[in-house]
Amino acid sequence: MAQIVSPSLLSANFGNLQEDLRMINSSSADWLHIDIMDGVFVPNLSFGPPVLKYVAELCEKPLDVHLMVVEPMKYLPAMKDINARIMNIHYEACTHLHRAVTQIKDSGMMAGVTLNPSTPVCLLKDIIGELDLVLLMSVNPGFGGQKFIPHTVNKVKELRELIDSTGSKALIEVDGGVNVNTGKLLAEAGSDALVAGNAVFKDADPQGVIELLRNL
Ligand code: DX5
Ligand code: ZN
Repeated sequence: MAQIVSPSLLSANFGNLQEDLRMINSSSADWLHIDIMDGVFVPNLSFGPPVLKYVAELCEKPLDVHLMVVEPMKYLPAMKDINARIMNIHYEACTHLHRAVTQIKDSGMMAGVTLNPSTPVCLLKDIIGELDLVLLMSVNPGFGGQKFIPHTVNKVKELRELIDSTGSKALIEVDGGVNVNTGKLLAEAGSDALVAGNAVFKDADPQGVIELLRNL
């Protein structure tokens, strides 16, 4: 099954972001995945709106933003400002998920809900019909370059069943340790979109890897 590919900016060369963004713009990547970390929800910091504004100006691909922060809804205006296509918030960071999802959609963005590796798919049962996307973490969020957790393949199958049996239109995206090998297992299990950081940016032929992932 053809996959939507969303290279993760976290693995780009921050000493020369312009060059990596040029590579992304001229590649067949569908989206650009943006990881925002606050050092509280995850044990790491990345970058915030001032850097993002610059990235958004240079990037011609739709932005797929993944907020690994407590109180993600505080950043809704900033996400609108950079014209994000997708705003992904963590299930674990939202008490009032239905309200948050409604607000994201009312702002004209796609609403994505992200699950940590230990959060079961069945918890989405009562909200799946409202979602545009579910982002399944296949590593514990916080760092690029980690090892893929194989159980994620089962979660993709389970989520595929939930989506198909409820008539939900949500896309299934997977994030963490995705490369051509793990990507193939995910695509076969029913994923729609793959995030890839190290597999793309640390390869000698990043555009070639993007193309391979798209055609799994
Ligand atoms: C991890 C981030 C991922 C990360 C993926 O917390 O959410 O998006 O950048 O990087 P790789 O593909 O290298 O695991
Ligand atoms: Zn991510």
